[in-house]
Amino acid sequence: MTRQFDFLVIGSGIAGISFALKASRHGTVALLSKSSLDDTNTSYAQGGIAAVTYSPDSFEKHIADTIVAGDGHCDVAVVEKVITEAPQQIEELLNWGIDFDRDGDGKFDLHREGGHSEHRILHHKDNTGYEIQEALIRKLRTIPNIEIFENTFAIEIITQHHMGEVVTMHTPNIECYGAYVLDQRTNHIHTYLSKVTLLATGGIGGVYATTTNPDVATGDGIAMVHRARGVIKDMEFVQFHPTAFYNPGERPTFLITEAIRGYGAILRGQDGREFMQKYDDRGSLAPRDIVARAIDNEMKIKGHDFVYLDVTHKDAEETKDHFPNIYKKCLEHGIDITKDFIPVSPTQHYVCGGIVVDMNARTSINRLYAAGECSCTGLHGANRLASNSLIEAIVYADVAAKDAAKHIRDYSWNTQIPAWDDEGTKLPEEMVLITQSFREVEQIMSSYVGIVRSNLRLQRAMRRLEILFKETEDLFDRSVVSRELCELRNVISVAYLIIKHALRRKESRGLHYTVDYPKRANGSESNLSV
Ligand code: FAD
Ligand code: SIN
Repeated sequence: MTRQFDFLVIGSGIAGISFALKASRHGTVALLSKSSLDDTNTSYAQGGIAAVTYSPDSFEKHIADTIVAGDGHCDVAVVEKVITEAPQQIEELLNWGIDFDRDGDGKFDLHREGGHSEHRILHHKDNTGYEIQEALIRKLRTIPNIEIFENTFAIEIITQHHMGEVVTMHTPNIECYGAYVLDQRTNHIHTYLSKVTLLATGGIGGVYATTTNPDVATGDGIAMVHRARGVIKDMEFVQFHPTAFYNPGERPTFLITEAIRGYGAILRGQDGREFMQKYDDRGSLAPRDIVARAIDNEMKIKGHDFVYLDVTHKDAEETKDHFPNIYKKCLEHGIDITKDFIPVSPTQHYVCGGIVVDMNARTSINRLYAAGECSCTGLHGANRLASNSLIEAIVYADVAAKDAAKHIRDYSWNTQIPAWDDEGTKLPEEMVLITQSFREVEQIMSSYVGIVRSNLRLQRAMRRLEILFKETEDLFDRSVVSRELCELRNVISVAYLIIKHALRRKESRGLHYTVDYPKRANGSESNLSV
């Protein structure tokens, strides 16, 4: 079956839905989610959304903090754009019914997180993302010309390649005509034709053995663009959150928000001693790359699997009021955070790199836009400042919608697109092969491509991955398509890109730390030499 829409949106997180709401003023929209609408990284966001709200905060300070955290790798024009446009986008969220906590005087109660010089994080208790996701879904359901497709998996974006042309990364004017999409309820593959497509497919947590991301985060958009010969960059900058709740086997790992350190929580070793001052004057509130590496180092030196986060010195009632979900979750594991230390360890959390977009969210492929975590705008540089992700997603969804609206009349549907070709794919794939290969990718990446890297480890990871790549491509060519098999292909592509970009970077910068090049390329000491 072929369907036609003006706008095709792949992803139902903050980037996808906010784009869809705006694009729907200019045409018909299909919004796809491979799982349920609320199964997104967005739903899990805890700390909040960074924006300048009151003095003494200022755009200049937020810009400076973002650039310092990004370790000299941010695109300054993008930083200025996102931060100055943030307050207007916060207004938009408020208009859509999103509720941020306020103090007794009705002013926003602003949190502070690592790397921020001011309190500037708007939040809804410690489940900001859930509040945003639910409000966006409520709004979405009121718009008649948005058609929602849940449990609908985008397999490939459609380009000239699918019309028999040879497409390479040097092909000028690669065009996106829509996507091939698997309806997971019927197992049929449909053609969705669009004039404009937005990728808003989120993160890559599925590549690692432990992650704060839900299972949907398998880097599909990045992998699809890579296969379509679009431009991807900065994949070596994988962010590990310093303080995930230590509970082996739990997936996704439960996050202990950085806002709790902004509130006063202190990192301690298992001996109860503070250690962060050894690494950075900002102590427990240093940027994330530094804190994660410091914890990793402490754990390696002592042979421990976790360190502690201590919030016991704060007022118990206030702690429970600010962090009700963390309090409840820890209590379920026998830890009363008002009395006991919380065991934490670093866990994969975010990817700063992704599909390269310009200041209008346009990718290197015509008629294809990207926003949110799957994109690389240049805002985060080599290390994302906490709570700058939700704001980036909504600012870029906005510019994408504006730019797409300007051009939508110039495009028409390409009705020559053939149906998905499943000629010769008769074997139902063996699930055990897929799940085992998935585990192998996770193990390779967590063992060799983690917080501290080396050439030797990266090269070994690449060799192991090549075997999995060949086996999986062979399986894909012979098997009936399934979501699981497609996701496996995608995590392999994403893992390949991370390793390739990491091998290319002959320095330590931001989230990429390698023992072979412990300094920055200009010879200066990297943020933390361990
Ligand atoms: P997502 O919200 O992840 O949505 C991705 C969507 O794409 C989903 O609907 C999924 O089904 C769909 N999709 C993916 N592939 C396909 C496919 N092949 N076919 C169809 N659909 C597909 N950031 C902050 O700024 N502040 C925070 O406090 C914060 N806390 C966080 C806490 C946690 C635990 C986590 C995991 C992240 C946190 N982040 C935070 C990061 C932030 O939540 C994400 O970067 C952001 O929500 C990503 O939004 P998105 O719209 O790009 O993607
Ligand atoms: C957190 O609440 O610590 C996560 C914030 C973020 O990832 O931006």
